[in-house]
Amino acid sequence: MTRIAQILVAAGKGERAKGESGGDLPKQYQTIGGKAVLRRTLEATQSELRIRETIVVVAKGDPHIGPLIEDLDTIRTVTGGATRTASVKAGLAALADNPPDFVLIHDGARPFVTPALIGEVIDALNTSTAAVPALPIADALKSVDGASVDRDKLRRVQTPQGFHFDKIWAAFSALPEGASFADDIEVAHAAGLDIAFTTGDTNNFKVTYPSDFAKADAMLKTETYTATGTGFDVHRFTEGDVLWLCGVPIECGFTLLGHSDADAGLHALTDAILGALAYGDIGDHFPPSDPQWKGASSDKFLIYAIEKIKERGGALQHVDVTLICEKPKIKPHRDAMRARIAELCGLPLTRVSVKATTTEKLGFTGRGEGLAAQASATIKLPA
Ligand code: CTP
Ligand code: MG
Repeated sequence: MTRIAQILVAAGKGERAKGESGGDLPKQYQTIGGKAVLRRTLEATQSELRIRETIVVVAKGDPHIGPLIEDLDTIRTVTGGATRTASVKAGLAALADNPPDFVLIHDGARPFVTPALIGEVIDALNTSTAAVPALPIADALKSVDGASVDRDKLRRVQTPQGFHFDKIWAAFSALPEGASFADDIEVAHAAGLDIAFTTGDTNNFKVTYPSDFAKADAMLKTETYTATGTGFDVHRFTEGDVLWLCGVPIECGFTLLGHSDADAGLHALTDAILGALAYGDIGDHFPPSDPQWKGASSDKFLIYAIEKIKERGGALQHVDVTLICEKPKIKPHRDAMRARIAELCGLPLTRVSVKATTTEKLGFTGRGEGLAAQASATIKLPA
């Protein structure tokens, strides 16, 4: 199997990113969305599973790297040099004893790299000695004397840049002391290696200036994931007049037994929302042993769960409730149930489903001893 290692260069001082909105730390240790830039870069690159080994190149005596990598294995750190080129060379030297087939060299300050972009660089190395993600240029280009430059012949290049290890190590080893290049493709080009261009990504920018932190924070805010939670609840029938289900009173000559109003539909839905938020269950938040919930109207529980979604900056997308019982007949009440749930959840009717089924006279619901409800809730949450 092809052995692939990566070098993350993080030994720079990040001078251009300091001051005003940028802090005093080197940029790779400043945070975006509450997490250090370099930690984000590490996590992003770890998701390409073909990379088996990572060298992080850090400044001499760097006090920040330790806590950032203590929970990650397959990572080694080495000390870099005064230039990016010297730092990359130190990283390559650390791999040279037990050389991998391919090496990817990536800026620690590019946290938005994706597995797709990395994967394309790796794939290109099956047919080329070097590979670089590149983007076409949209703006017209001028030289400073005013003359137009043909942008079709130019590309913006990014990292990770990938290489056959033996070839790039030979090229770096042959460099004169103190040689400094903008990137590693330049070294490969000078050594006459063949270079493939792969698809770059505008999001894969290098944090360089103070304003880039705000840009990165804003990008993270738009990143979301969809969570689905499920809930299930059962209550036993007992004597009474009115039974509450999905927030609607049904006058059926019996009721449900429970500490609160025993609305199994709203309980299942509340649990579904708590499930999507990974916030435990309804009993954690409203203990049955607490007298204040005795006879409580269950819409309180649902409203509370909806509040929790808001606290997390999420948005409820859709709910689906299934009532499982032989009695009472649900169909005559279904529209009222949907309307009440939609009102409580702040959702349009098209995003609220209430269904019912029997269990063909089987089991406790079939025998008419009680009623069950299950629900799912789909929530969009910030990543
Ligand atoms: N880098 C490095 N060793 C150096 C210089 C840079 O490992 N001697 C790394 C940086 O940490 C960064 C990447 O190379 O991840 C790209 O370089 P650049 O954006 O220039 O970072 P800095 O040199 O840290 O920033 P500045 O030039 O603004 O000081
Ligand atoms: Mg620099």
